[in-house]
Amino acid sequence: MRLLLAVVSILTHSIADPDDCSSFINRLPPNITISESTPSNTSLLEVNVNATAASTFIDQVDFYIIPSELSVFLLDHFKSLHVGNKWLLLLQKSIDVEYIYQEKNKYVLNNFQITFLCESNTKVMNVSVIDEDDNGPVFANTKSTNCTISGYTASSYREYTGKIETSPGGIEAADGDVTGNNITYSFLYGEPFGFEDYFIINPRYGHVNKTREVIEGDPHSFMMIIQATEMSTLGRTKIAVLEVGVHENIPVASSEVKANKAVLLVLQIISGIMIVAFTLGFAFIVHHRIKKHIVTPQVPDSSNTSKFDSMEAVTEDSFILENTIVLTETNQMNGGSIKDTKP
Ligand SMILES: *[C@@H]1O[C@H](CO)[C@@H](O)[C@H](O)[C@H]1NC(C)=O
Ligand SMILES: *[C@@H]1O[C@H](CO)[C@@H](O)[C@H](O)[C@H]1NC(C)=O
Ligand SMILES: *[C@@H]1O[C@H](CO)[C@@H](O)[C@H](O)[C@H]1NC(C)=O
Ligand SMILES: *[C@@H]1O[C@H](CO)[C@@H](O)[C@H](O)[C@H]1NC(C)=O
Ligand SMILES: *[C@@H]1O[C@H](CO)[C@@H](O)[C@H](O)[C@H]1NC(C)=O
Ligand SMILES: *[C@@H]1O[C@H](CO)[C@@H](O)[C@H](O)[C@H]1NC(C)=O
Ligand SMILES: *[C@@H]1O[C@H](CO)[C@@H](O)[C@H](O)[C@H]1NC(C)=O
Repeated sequence: MRLLLAVVSILTHSIADPDDCSSFINRLPPNITISESTPSNTSLLEVNVNATAASTFIDQVDFYIIPSELSVFLLDHFKSLHVGNKWLLLLQKSIDVEYIYQEKNKYVLNNFQITFLCESNTKVMNVSVIDEDDNGPVFANTKSTNCTISGYTASSYREYTGKIETSPGGIEAADGDVTGNNITYSFLYGEPFGFEDYFIINPRYGHVNKTREVIEGDPHSFMMIIQATEMSTLGRTKIAVLEVGVHENIPVASSEVKANKAVLLVLQIISGIMIVAFTLGFAFIVHHRIKKHIVTPQVPDSSNTSKFDSMEAVTEDSFILENTIVLTETNQMNGGSIKDTKP
């Protein structure tokens, strides 16, 4: 607090006192920081002025506050004052971020701007507000007690990539205060080295994704420290531990592989039978054709007819061959015992 107070009181030492609005305005700093503990009647800004020269403008120094929804509310916290040969900006009333949150429709005051006016000259000053009684984030869905670090566990499979489901619930942190600042998530640390090759964390929602397949030689258990950071001036943080175990393929997946093997075996048997049937059929056709060719010359009719007959015979044979295959296939498909036909 002592340190903050030192920061708060900005004394603008002048080489030469400002003697007009323009030089006065230029002497104001671009930003200041106020904390909740800054007491009432603290001077936030001080500018030495030559009382004689300044008298023409100093009492006309004015200011307003942005954002507009807070301008009236915050205006009575500040006062522009001219005492002797000094101009001051006084904090008349301490700022309480939680009080403003309640009074001003859940407005989270982290910073605002004061615009100073002196005749036609303006200067915008940023004011950061430090919420000192800020409680920092709290992790939800964990079995944490008051004195232990929050913990999550998850298990995944080697080949899986995507969001991992954590237990006892999803990774989630919320501001421990009424102000409800937004939270961002990040990995603070993790083991083994290189864990970030396998996992990423969504900064906004805290979801952890496994991004890569874990192969046999890779580590199968990981530990990560997740940090939740409050999006406020102080940026308070809290950590939680996530442990992830990676397992071999799910049993269902391996039975699928087995099933595929069975299907493969059936297909192999069927194609084997088809090849045999085709060979037999082909041999039959060839045999039949040779027989017909031998027979044909003995028929006294024209060679055209015999050719036709011969073609008809081939078609007929093909039909028989096709049927044989179809029957064989149907037989297998209808549950014809595979094991019996297994060579
Ligand atoms: C003041 O705040 C505005 C917006 O919040 C920012 O763009 C600007 O850089 C700040 N100026 C200083 C001097 O911090
Ligand atoms: C003013 O802003 C600068 C940069 O944004 C920062 O480093 C500095 O601490 C600020 N000063 C005060 C008094 O807030
Ligand atoms: C602040 O100063 C005013 C006069 O300038 C005085 O009336 C008031 O009591 C002071 N407040 C505190 C808290 O010191
Ligand atoms: C104050 O300003 C007046 C008028 O500009 C000038 O005569 C006088 O010397 C100044 N005094 C100091 C101490 O700078
Ligand atoms: C945690 O602390 C609060 C008060 O600080 C107390 O009421 C509560 O019983 C504590 N819980 C555990 C689990 O210790
Ligand atoms: C994380 O995984 C989910 C699916 O599980 C996906 O929709 C999302 O895009 C992934 N996020 C990143 C950053 O890869
Ligand atoms: C918090 O995040 C939400 C979106 O996630 C955004 O609309 C809102 O402006 C953020 N609040 C602050 C104070 O940054």
